Amino acid sequence: MAISEDFKRELKRRINIADIIGQYVTLKKSGRGLMGKCPFHGDDTPSFSVSPELGVYHCFGCNESGDTIRFVEQMEHLDYMEAIRWLAQKAGLNVPENDGDNRSYRLRQRIFEANREAARFYVQQLYTPEGKEALDYLTKRHLLPKTITHFGLGYSPKSRFELVNHLKNKGFSGTELIQANLANESQWGGKPYDRFSDRIMFPIIDLQRRVLGFGGRIMSDLKPKYLNTAETPVFNKSENLYALQFAKNKANGQLILVEGYMDVIALHQAGFENAVATLGTAMTKEQAVIISRHCTEVVICYDADEAGQRATARAIGILRPLGLNIRILTVPNGKDPDEFIKSHGEQGPARFRMLLNKSGNDVDYRLNKLRSSYQLDITQQRVDFLTEACQLIATLDNSIERDIYTSRLAEELSVDKPAIKQQVEKYLHIRQRKNDRQAQRTIQRSLTVPPLPLGTAQDGYHLRTANTEEALIALLIGNPDVAVTILPTLSPDLFVTSFHKMLCEMLQKRAAQGYDFAISDMSDTLSEQEVSRLAKILSTHPYEEDPASAAKEYISVLQEEAERLSPQKAASADDDTLLKEMRKLRSKKQ
Ligand code: CTP
Ligand code: MN
Repeated sequence: MAISEDFKRELKRRINIADIIGQYVTLKKSGRGLMGKCPFHGDDTPSFSVSPELGVYHCFGCNESGDTIRFVEQMEHLDYMEAIRWLAQKAGLNVPENDGDNRSYRLRQRIFEANREAARFYVQQLYTPEGKEALDYLTKRHLLPKTITHFGLGYSPKSRFELVNHLKNKGFSGTELIQANLANESQWGGKPYDRFSDRIMFPIIDLQRRVLGFGGRIMSDLKPKYLNTAETPVFNKSENLYALQFAKNKANGQLILVEGYMDVIALHQAGFENAVATLGTAMTKEQAVIISRHCTEVVICYDADEAGQRATARAIGILRPLGLNIRILTVPNGKDPDEFIKSHGEQGPARFRMLLNKSGNDVDYRLNKLRSSYQLDITQQRVDFLTEACQLIATLDNSIERDIYTSRLAEELSVDKPAIKQQVEKYLHIRQRKNDRQAQRTIQRSLTVPPLPLGTAQDGYHLRTANTEEALIALLIGNPDVAVTILPTLSPDLFVTSFHKMLCEMLQKRAAQGYDFAISDMSDTLSEQEVSRLAKILSTHPYEEDPASAAKEYISVLQEEAERLSPQKAASADDDTLLKEMRKLRSKKQ
């Protein structure tokens, strides 16, 4: 469905890219734009730039770029039209509807509505005579009425048709209920029936307070203990964290990561409202990135059993590279946080606070683990342990931290501190050299085109031209007043790269029709790759102090180059050959 230019202009007037992105990323002013940590890759130094002026973002680390619409598409997993609707809703605008290809958006909305109704229904059931057993169960597990309400806990009745009937009366179709995974399809051709029966229901809610799905706990020892909503068009458990909607506002820089629903709830009730849980899966990269947006320190508090320890190691491996501080809290006697708090009665919260205060960071944790795998009274094993410990200390970015562990290690093993320090430094150098090489490669990748002619005349011709074309396009889009005077007389044939030529023609057409040409205005005529390519051009070309004369200069470079090599001119060099040349050049330089 095409969106009218008027509507897009209005939408753009009402939304600011920095406000939208700022909901996900902390942005700080930097030069003419803003910088923050990239939400798309694990980013420990801010390499994500946002330009409110141009309405684009670009990450110098992972190379993601785009406009507001693309950002919303990526972050919220929406398609183009859905993203427009999402933004329109934020801006308080109604999208002119022209039904048709928005079926998937409608389905998602219906699923959210069905889930919300279901959550309401489950809560009501908890307070009926049939729900009494469930309510008693929760009380036995020491949950206060206000906690039960706060988390929206409910009960799914035994009869396999109550929810289905209830929702059908509310106008939902059998198919919708199956797609929401609230109902199962009957294998015998009968009616769909309730997926959850006779279970305590935990609604899973996202940051926009939408009900994504449910976890349902059985009250007996039967299996499975928890039955969860399967993957649906609105629910992907590897991309969500339980209770983040509450915890993010209480984080104050720190989140506590636990394994289960009940652990989260018990902790919140005990005053630790910064606890979240992964939804019955090992931590994923997506979850780690989400976590890193809301805190600077994570306390991992997984079960002490073998599986919990493995999960801890995995989580450290995913969270550390995101620049997060990590602490490990081990609950004694094989208990989980919920059991621990309960077992100490009124003292529970204070006891847990003590555990939290003395929880070591992940270096302590890993050093302890390492130590326990060596027999330190055997000389060779002491040496091996020390070697590995030095390697570990060398992975720390903070020099004070490194010094503390070096001292501790020296003291503990009665070894000369300078000797250990020297060893740590050796590994540190190796690591730094490796990082430098990596950074070098990243920078090389992020440079659009090397600046000036190198190699053969042929290579130089295209590179210089392509680079100038990019600069000119960025300048025109960034300076509409200059653009309107220049575009009418600019010949698109001066552009060698077909993409740039196409952009030039598009800008001309829009200028002639009196349309704006901010990237968000053009993004429905461009493909996703094209939007991202254009956003990158805009983000990587600096602002011109004097755009009018810079534009003239660029144009004269293009003319000069066109004349210099007129026989092979223009159309012959498509984007592919350009890319090949760039690659060739780079490999020559290295
Ligand atoms: N889980 C699950 N499916 C299961 C078992 C567990 O999805 N069959 C997930 C749930 O999110 C659960 C978490 O893994 O909360 C941790 O499981 P477990 O430690 O077994 O349960 P607890 O959280 O301790 O639950 P409870 O205290 O109610 O026994
Ligand atoms: Mn438990």
